[in-house]
Amino acid sequence: MEVIICSDEQAVGRIAADRITKVLSRAETPVLGVATGSTPLTTYSSLAALAAEGKADFTGLRAFALDEYVGLPADDERSYAATIRHTVTEQLGLDAANVHTPDGMADDLDAACAAYEKAIRDVNGVDVQILGIGANGHIGFNEPTSSLSSRTRVKTLAERTKADNARFFERGEKVPSHCVTQGLGTIMDARNVVLLAVGANKADALAGAVEGPVSAMCPGSVLQFHPHVLVIADEAAASKLT
Ligand code: F6R
Repeated sequence: MEVIICSDEQAVGRIAADRITKVLSRAETPVLGVATGSTPLTTYSSLAALAAEGKADFTGLRAFALDEYVGLPADDERSYAATIRHTVTEQLGLDAANVHTPDGMADDLDAACAAYEKAIRDVNGVDVQILGIGANGHIGFNEPTSSLSSRTRVKTLAERTKADNARFFERGEKVPSHCVTQGLGTIMDARNVVLLAVGANKADALAGAVEGPVSAMCPGSVLQFHPHVLVIADEAAASKLT
């Protein structure tokens, strides 16, 4: 793993956007894996700035999101489909038809998960996957104890994750208890991974993922088996790396 430690969140986004653009520019039909959450927001705005300056061209770029809540339709502003639409599709000027999010509303969720895996395979896989990391070490919504070879499936959200994500819901509103998420095996199929971490509350999780034993108790640690991982963290998130 290559680890870059930056002074602040803005620098994390700038460096990530530079690297991601380089990888995508080498791909014939580029495919970007996108994460929701707060961490990648500076990366998305930096990617948009590169495009505005003519230093990147995202025409034809396809994107696949990591996860979605079960029970929230794409037009619900709290859904990850809506988040990706605002932060990625609109900001980077992508064709909405090229941007995919798992379907958390399908009658047959297992079939929808299998179809999502097939859709990723059909575009020849992901060139570069952007990841954040949960305070409990999750990547995507693969919570601790997730199988290291798992594929896209329905998962129960950990209590800590629900508490962390309650900020996106009104007071008193319940955070959905289930999600559809790409599996750890699915994420590991991406040809390149950029793992982002910002803030002191990610320091333990990042140290576990980068330097801890590979264990389902810290799902991010599976990335130690991946040949092309770039970790970009601010000083606070990197504070527990040796
Ligand atoms: C989001 C996702 C999650 C987040 C993680 C960190 O699609 O898959 O793994 O990346 O929960 O979230 P933030 O960035 O909000 O701290």
